Amino acid sequence: MTATALQTKVHPALEGSLLLEVTSVRAQTNSITSISFGHPLGEQLPSYVPGSHLVVQYGTGANSYSLTGAGSAPTEYTISVLRVEDGAGGSLAMHALSVGDRVQVSRPRSAFAPAATAKHHLLIAAGIGITPVLSHARYAAEWGASASLIYVHRPGTGAHVEDARELLGSDLTECTDRNSFREVLTTKLTTQKLGTHLYVCGPTDFMDSVLEQARDLGWPKGLLHSEAFSAAALDDGQPFAVNLVRSGVKLDVPAGVSLLETLESAGLNIPNMCRKGICGECAAPVLRGAPQHRDLYLTDQEKADNTTIMCCVSRSLDKELELDL
Ligand code: FES
Repeated sequence: MTATALQTKVHPALEGSLLLEVTSVRAQTNSITSISFGHPLGEQLPSYVPGSHLVVQYGTGANSYSLTGAGSAPTEYTISVLRVEDGAGGSLAMHALSVGDRVQVSRPRSAFAPAATAKHHLLIAAGIGITPVLSHARYAAEWGASASLIYVHRPGTGAHVEDARELLGSDLTECTDRNSFREVLTTKLTTQKLGTHLYVCGPTDFMDSVLEQARDLGWPKGLLHSEAFSAAALDDGQPFAVNLVRSGVKLDVPAGVSLLETLESAGLNIPNMCRKGICGECAAPVLRGAPQHRDLYLTDQEKADNTTIMCCVSRSLDKELELDL
């Protein structure tokens, strides 16, 4: 893909973002490629919290990818992308990039940060889920934090295996089948020192089973962290109501229908692009009530503030939300 092909109009969701240049493209496996972006003039890039992601524009679409670096004073942003033939096209566009191509990317966003108070970081990754976890591992190695990693990958198809071995040494446990993983996980979950936080990234069923087992073994929710690849595979959620204060309208949002769809059905024109919780375009201000944040766009702090909701995927923890619309 040429630089020209990528110079489409910057989507409003990515205004204030960075126009970066592809500085390297490296095959990790047959289906996973690492791509690094740098400032065209070699300038340093904004730092980021480990586990952060970038929204990268391709044509008229955009997708979110985890950064694999430690995040302090970076001169490059590196992502590793699994090629998905029947996806929305983002991974194919990333795999078609060449050195010198220019790409519009968001500033890094954090939604999977390490807990500052953790005594130990138990990292668990499966498949391409290694990407944000590797960022955590690099950060731990750089700052001397205590960390261990269980990495589930099929022999010969794991990305960043050598990186993980170098960073973790004997604190890395590799599993190449689900049975051995189950045994290792049970042991690790029952032998951690007090104050350990768990971080998991991988396919949804994998993450669900890890989190469920941890909860069953008594791990408090506050010690468990997970990073979904996409906000697309979400459940229907619970019904709730929205009170649109400026419009003077109250609407019901049924289970299985998004807030964005509800607002659109009522005739409101809400800007949107990805409809997957990654681009940030459909943000709406919250005046009252606690959103059930299910997006990949807002930072952990922004989610905790509860002043913004991504209408395309997020719902409500309260029976009613009051929005400044
Ligand atoms: S439309 Fe992209 S986050 Fe909602």
